[in-house]
Amino acid sequence: MSLLITNIKSIVQVHEHSPSILKGKSMGSIPTIENGYILVEDGSIKDYGIMDSAPKNAGKMIDATGKLVLPSWCDSHSHIVFAGSREQEFVDRINGLSYEEIAERGGGILNSAKKVNETSESELLDQALKRTEEVISMGTGALEIKSGYALTLEGELKMLRVIKKLKEQSPLTIKATFLGAHTIPTKYKQDRESYIKLLTEQMLPQIGDEGLAEYIDVFCEKVAFTTEETDLIIEAGLRYGLKPKIHTNQFNSMGGIEVSTKHNAISVDHLEVMNDTEIDHLSQSNTIATLLPTAPFFLNQAYPPARKLIAKNIPIALATDYNPGSTPSGKIPFVLSLACVKMKMTPEEAINAATINGGYAMEVADELGSITIGKKANLIITKPMPSYNFIPYAFGGNHIETVILNGKIQ
Ligand code: NIG
Ligand code: FE
Repeated sequence: MSLLITNIKSIVQVHEHSPSILKGKSMGSIPTIENGYILVEDGSIKDYGIMDSAPKNAGKMIDATGKLVLPSWCDSHSHIVFAGSREQEFVDRINGLSYEEIAERGGGILNSAKKVNETSESELLDQALKRTEEVISMGTGALEIKSGYALTLEGELKMLRVIKKLKEQSPLTIKATFLGAHTIPTKYKQDRESYIKLLTEQMLPQIGDEGLAEYIDVFCEKVAFTTEETDLIIEAGLRYGLKPKIHTNQFNSMGGIEVSTKHNAISVDHLEVMNDTEIDHLSQSNTIATLLPTAPFFLNQAYPPARKLIAKNIPIALATDYNPGSTPSGKIPFVLSLACVKMKMTPEEAINAATINGGYAMEVADELGSITIGKKANLIITKPMPSYNFIPYAFGGNHIETVILNGKIQ
């Protein structure tokens, strides 16, 4: 079945060859073709070019006069498998409590863990499927999803099995991350070592056996795991073939970046708090900086130092962090707006970070993240708009008209 999109005002992020990861100055430009067409066949991008050379017919035609076409977003950091919501904590923060104070008194991640353990696998799947549909409507085509809201052997396996079902049932390209090390459950507060043993000696072997995850994540933070514990857990994950993608530097600089790069982590995520030594250190590695600006927006915190990272040639990916605690939203266009307004990234840098670099941060860049012949036809057709700058500029609006995943209109 073929699909021909014609009269496209601008094809954005179009590359003859799939680009290498973008860093430094290269993050600042995006190739486009004006007044073009894209031909999709059997779920892949078959051809593209200027309208003068467009084929005349196809199985299905879409006229994109005045509209832009972009590759769908690669959202490389999310926690969309969760139960219920946590709006009371939102109110508690308005009334003066901090995220860390809420966590210390048993709220936060532990609040979600209780709910997830009480919820059946099929109910969790139903809730998560709705969220996948929601993020698709906002232009997401690839999504990394973490466990970490159960913190029990059965519950973590249940979450990862839900992610496995999402891979089968959703048109999204999905990667799974084991985040059993999200925080220490209450009953292990005085015996952290036993929880780490449960993670490394019971959860990981089963996850490895069932092939339930591609990545290992640890929340390296004062309210969660120390750098020494993070080191141990990453090492254990690596033994089961799981590559590290690490939550670090959300509230404190405590060595999480160093321990992540030591293990050649795919990405270090958050980085709201980061000193110059850490920036220098990260610039010597191949690890991607994944920034999640909707989290500091929602928690009313300072934003990551994106300009300093770009100046040091550190590749940046942007992702949503969609979760019930720090970002109850999966909207990449709003992430782009915050990246531009709050972190002074240009629209080009922001779009690159949420497409091709996001693809690298979840290892799907060979098949997604740019409009390149042979890649999956995961495309966004916008509403009519003057230029791609309009997407981060007109924040909060719905600028997407059609989403195509695997060549199919969603
Ligand atoms: O990435 N920081 C750790 N984990 C999530 C939030 C967890 C929660 O509050 O439920 C994050 O922001
Ligand atoms: Fe997160």
